[in-house]
Amino acid sequence: MDNRAIGVFDSGLGGLSVVRRLVTLLPNENIVYFGDTGRVPYGTRSAETIRRYTEQDCRFLLGQDVKCIIAACGTVSSVAADVLTRLPVPAMGVVQPTASAALRATKNGCIGVLGTGATVHSGAFHKALSESERDVQVFATACPLFVSLVESGWIERDNEATVAVARRYLQPLIEQQVDTVVLGCTHFPLLSPILADILGDGVTLIDSGEACAKACAELLREHDALARCDEGSCRFFVSDRPHDFGELAARFLGRPVGECVEEIKWDGDEG
Ligand code: DGL
Repeated sequence: MDNRAIGVFDSGLGGLSVVRRLVTLLPNENIVYFGDTGRVPYGTRSAETIRRYTEQDCRFLLGQDVKCIIAACGTVSSVAADVLTRLPVPAMGVVQPTASAALRATKNGCIGVLGTGATVHSGAFHKALSESERDVQVFATACPLFVSLVESGWIERDNEATVAVARRYLQPLIEQQVDTVVLGCTHFPLLSPILADILGDGVTLIDSGEACAKACAELLREHDALARCDEGSCRFFVSDRPHDFGELAARFLGRPVGECVEEIKWDGDEG
């Protein structure tokens, strides 16, 4: 048993799609979330910068005495997975659990992957999906504009701008007749209703949050580190605009978080 918190981080709001699932699946766990809102997006940056940010984010969470770390960010999980393997606590990203869920879901073996530019360029999802014994075809599309749309709160199902952008990004996947679409960026589950409307009933969306929360539960069980708190708590840290984060986080998590959001400042050479 270990009542210390699970550390979760992302470049911004997206990792909340993992927190939402974690809270449901593991209600006794404490969670410390860090959203690097001062430096979002990560997906348009070089691998070197993403790795440096990842090291700093993990250092911050380790300073909060977390028992494990989840990189709730497709970009970090794809580009800086090796940083996670060098941490002094168990750590995981979203690629493997999400790819496994997609392989279980697909019937026709045609899988679409939506991610940031860095994620698609890394080929990490493609590799994870192709390593299985199943014969699958993978079609990946970079959707960088989705990240800003989500961070701006343009997530309503009838938001015309977001719907138009989504149609454009999804068209190639519709043409390839994919039956499963991996939301390879943790920001994207916030757009699920819009994506589902466009793709239609025959296509299964794989939410990295759900797959990742299940894998985290397994990881904690393996390390005999599940918590026994009566009721878990969540604390949120951001590197900029705590108010904006709090407002959107509350909308997404379905409960007020204002009191629990704190701002941190990176020191001199960081940022
Ligand atoms: N939530 C992120 C991901 O899963 C990052 C988006 C970004 O910062 O570009 O890739």
